[in-house]
Amino acid sequence: MTTSGSDSPPKPLWLLAELTYRCPLQCPYCSNPLDMAKYSDELSTEEWIRVFREARAMGAVQLGLSGGEALVRKDLEELIAEAHKLGFYINLLTSGVGMDEHRIRAFKEAGLDHIQISFQASSEELNNFIAGNDSFRHKLEMARLVKQYDYPMVLCFVLHRHNTDDVAQILDMAHALQADYVELATTQYYGWAMLNRDQLLPTREQVQRAEALAHDYQEKLKGQMKIFYVVPDYHEERPKACMSGWGSIFLTVAPDGTALPCHAAGSLPGLSFPNVRDHDLAWIWSASPDFNRFRGYGWMKEPCRSCEEKTKDFGGCRCQAYLLTGDPANADPVCAKSPHHAELQRRVALASEQTPPRESPIVFRNMRNSKRQMGVLD
Ligand code: FES
Repeated sequence: MTTSGSDSPPKPLWLLAELTYRCPLQCPYCSNPLDMAKYSDELSTEEWIRVFREARAMGAVQLGLSGGEALVRKDLEELIAEAHKLGFYINLLTSGVGMDEHRIRAFKEAGLDHIQISFQASSEELNNFIAGNDSFRHKLEMARLVKQYDYPMVLCFVLHRHNTDDVAQILDMAHALQADYVELATTQYYGWAMLNRDQLLPTREQVQRAEALAHDYQEKLKGQMKIFYVVPDYHEERPKACMSGWGSIFLTVAPDGTALPCHAAGSLPGLSFPNVRDHDLAWIWSASPDFNRFRGYGWMKEPCRSCEEKTKDFGGCRCQAYLLTGDPANADPVCAKSPHHAELQRRVALASEQTPPRESPIVFRNMRNSKRQMGVLD
């Protein structure tokens, strides 16, 4: 049975194409897998187009192009043009590094609908420190060009301990740029972010201040700029309905063609997700054992099994349950009913009392550090 309760699986409405894990930035909050260096055998242009065609035939309507940094792919314009012909609404999620006016114009001609540019901070110094390069001024320039070429201006800031106190400055900057939408996306602790969690976790007071400020600005700028504040779930009592349920509407394809129900599922133990090079998407989505592993409610243990909220939150996030408890079938510890909730709260409280421990310095996300994590580099 499916998450929605019917017998046939729902449609993958959202396809996230992680075109490459190569990226000129080194953000330590990235949710890409730590072993991203092993994904170097990227799908070719023709393979990606076949994936788009198969997904569209199954009912997918939204296409996210991300990475790593999707702009690294020289065939991005061609991929956009083919996806546009297929009828997708196409969203490019980018740092802006690798973009220029020539490419923005080409994307427009190819049929790109939407560009989301991410910033690391509102100050040049912090932005460039987190990104690991001097990208701030270029990002500003790209944001202005996005507007000039008549795209909606969508800016994304990932919040963590080092920039959560700057929410007012971030929103002032976005307003000055005439952004239409701003996403204040709290760090989600997967991949590199999980590795750097002790350094990134904000204090409870920081979160409360940021949330209050975001709400003030939502009121103040109503009708001018839409602000989405993503609540940091570690500080919550109810879990998020991750991916709207496993294998429900989201389908991610990693750079090497591995198909996943979410961007982080590749790290779950005991599952070996199918590859689009070996199977068509229809089989992967409907019949592969791993896409069915956490569909519906049959896999649930207590307290999820008998919880009346399971149809709303689907037990939370499988990847978070694994990362925090060692078992992806456990309730997400963000949930106050989870027996692991108290331990998570203890960790959050600890973060509020301590400056980040010196013995765990920030590990920046790059291929060298990925190889080190994989044990293939000293
Ligand atoms: Fe994988 Fe939530 S991120 S299920």
